[in-house]
Amino acid sequence: MKQIVLSLLANAGGVGKTTLSVHLAYEMSRRGFSVAMIDLDPQRSLDVFCGLPPAEASNTLVKVLSKDFKGNWSLVRVWQDHKVEVCQGHPLLAEIANELVIRKRGEYALSDRLKSSPLPHNLIILDCPATLGMLNVNALAASTHILVPVQLEMKAISGSAELVEWCISTAEELHLEPRPPILGFVPSMYDESVAMHRQYLEQLPEIANQLHLKLYPKVRNSNEFKNASAHGLPLQKFRPKHPACKDFKPIADDLAALIKDKKEKK
Ligand SMILES: Nc1ncnc2c1ncn2[C@@H]1O[C@H](COP(=O)(O)OP(=O)(O)OP(=O)(O)O)[C@@H](O)[C@H]1O
Ligand SMILES: [Mg+2]
Repeated sequence: MKQIVLSLLANAGGVGKTTLSVHLAYEMSRRGFSVAMIDLDPQRSLDVFCGLPPAEASNTLVKVLSKDFKGNWSLVRVWQDHKVEVCQGHPLLAEIANELVIRKRGEYALSDRLKSSPLPHNLIILDCPATLGMLNVNALAASTHILVPVQLEMKAISGSAELVEWCISTAEELHLEPRPPILGFVPSMYDESVAMHRQYLEQLPEIANQLHLKLYPKVRNSNEFKNASAHGLPLQKFRPKHPACKDFKPIADDLAALIKDKKEKK
């Protein structure tokens, strides 16, 4: 078994990074894999999506990234029935990010922590903020793989192409060896009744192809995603029979194959 560290990255806010994080985490845990989610977002999105009360900075990723970290990760178990744990975020992450800019090996702070104090989980999911700052550089440096949700809107699509460029150039600057591959694009919040969504979905294969990226099937738009997150639950637990629960399976299949060290499906 191989440990996979998956970053959810996008060049825009609100495109479905956190939604994808929690639903993949749940789907993978349901399949028997242990999962840790790390919240790199100063807005602590995972707290909301997991129904967690805000934590003191000393029990969050702030402690892990601080200079005097002693190796004891603070992880909170969520959703009970399977093994998913969360390292919570905190607003002070924004200050840590500034401090990392001047710290030696600041770009590698998270990567260094995961090496010196490894987590035992099969899958580690890094839920990233929308801006491509120091926290996302840290995520990239710590990742084995990257996944990019794409909203079916002009700005989000062009932003995704820029993000791919950013990943490649940043990985080069950081001398990441091996360079974390982008598993693929995931069209998010697809609403069939919106003409623009249908049109962009048709164009995405060509764009993904030009960027040599896999294109996953779409995640459909449904208000039940919002209702589920308002309850701090993934849709699979909130409405187990909802058809959108299946939308995460192809990605989970690839992640499972990677953890089992089999080649991912093309
Ligand atoms: N498939 C979907 N259908 C309907 N609503 C969705 C879907 N996916 C996400 N949402 C909603 O859209 C909003 C943004 O999603 P999410 O928080 O996952 O995006 P994000 O990229 O993590 O945002 P941020 O940049 O703020 O971190 C949330 O309210 C979420 O519940
Ligand atoms: Mg988010």
